[in-house]
Amino acid sequence: MATVSPKRASRIYDVLGRTYDLAERFEGRAKERGLDLLEVQPGHRVLEVGPGTGRVLQHLAGVVGSEGLAVGIDLSPVMARLSRDRAGVPVVVGDARALPFADRSFDRIFCSYVLDLIAPAEFPTVLSEFFRVLRPGGVLVNVSLTEGTTGPSRAFVAAWKALYRVSPTLCAGCRPIRLRDAAGAAGFDPVTAETIVEWAVPSEIVTATRPNRREA
Ligand SMILES: C[S@@+](CC[C@H](N)C(=O)[O-])C[C@H]1O[C@@H](n2cnc3c(N)ncnc32)[C@H](O)[C@@H]1O
Repeated sequence: MATVSPKRASRIYDVLGRTYDLAERFEGRAKERGLDLLEVQPGHRVLEVGPGTGRVLQHLAGVVGSEGLAVGIDLSPVMARLSRDRAGVPVVVGDARALPFADRSFDRIFCSYVLDLIAPAEFPTVLSEFFRVLRPGGVLVNVSLTEGTTGPSRAFVAAWKALYRVSPTLCAGCRPIRLRDAAGAAGFDPVTAETIVEWAVPSEIVTATRPNRREA
């Protein structure tokens, strides 16, 4: 399934802007579960990739507190501004495929509904960037639209894929993926995955740790 180009993705999310908050109805529980699994602590250095309107980044900034660091990176200049304003922390305009951060900069990375805009052939590039900027022992939580696991969610995904074939833009560039195996192949260990269905929309939550033994 063809994916949208970075330029196209940026334009889609520039236009969507704050209206993307409406998706919370279908994605909120999966993100909450992802945040539980991330186990962010006061003082942590946390990166959110693709913070969108900044709801999660605002939460992360509150948890890490003044002793920690929360930063974001978003492809869309409009989303970068919205999340910066909402969370009150730095958000740079940039691409998950080439993170402008030093090796081992972060204790935690959170990324929701971004990898499902990116071609599977590029997952190794993105995941190796996540791996590089995490400290050994650091944790990535990624949440994405995924394949259905129940009757209603399978029906939803079938309809969504049909719409995507007609117009990826109408689907905001998003289509179902599974990331667990790619995270393992990128060197994360352990890697766990679970699926949450909310209003028939299935989301995969992958928790992946950069092992202490692989010090690059
Ligand atoms: C579907 S929205 C999700 C926003 C937010 N994470 C959430 O769950 O509410 C995707 C966001 O990722 C950004 N994005 C898309 N591709 C990206 C990339 N390659 N690198 C960084 N951000 C990207 C978009 O601009 C948009 O803000």
